[in-house]
Amino acid sequence: MSQERTYIMVKPDGVERGLVGKIISRFEQRGYKLAAIRLLKADQALLSQHYADLAEKPFFPRLMAYMTSGPVVGMVWEGKDAVRTGRTLLGETNPLNSAPGTIRGDFCIDVGKNLCHGSDSVENANKEIALWFPQGVCSYDRPSDRLIY
Ligand code: TYD
Repeated sequence: MSQERTYIMVKPDGVERGLVGKIISRFEQRGYKLAAIRLLKADQALLSQHYADLAEKPFFPRLMAYMTSGPVVGMVWEGKDAVRTGRTLLGETNPLNSAPGTIRGDFCIDVGKNLCHGSDSVENANKEIALWFPQGVCSYDRPSDRLIY
């Protein structure tokens, strides 16, 4: 079985709106395994590394202000095709294009307040996991995997 991992983050609006549990539930009920979780107020330095590809975008200053406006919950979820399926569970970047049943399609409206982040490739997932969890993630056996795979 593939042990692919993805980095999922509840953004400050999701934490403030009390949606952390609901977002975690989506991944749990699908069958993914939690490998790490952390609540923190991210600083500019960390976010600039996370969003390095977007530094020249016009929306970057607004994105930084949003992402530093309160704590975020960073998580690592593990399982088969976790990166691609994680993006499917989140919905499209712009919530207006997100289908009902996805996290963004059910809980938000504006691209500037889109609740959550999910890695967009295995390569970026590995970079993001190393950035947000320098202490490493948790490896453990989950007997109930036999009910999922
Ligand atoms: P991006 O990496 O393009 O999307 P994704 O988060 O789906 O990988 O953009 C990062 C974040 O920047 C996105 O989640 C929300 C914000 N953003 C805006 O505020 N305005 C925009 O026009 C875009 C494209 C993104």
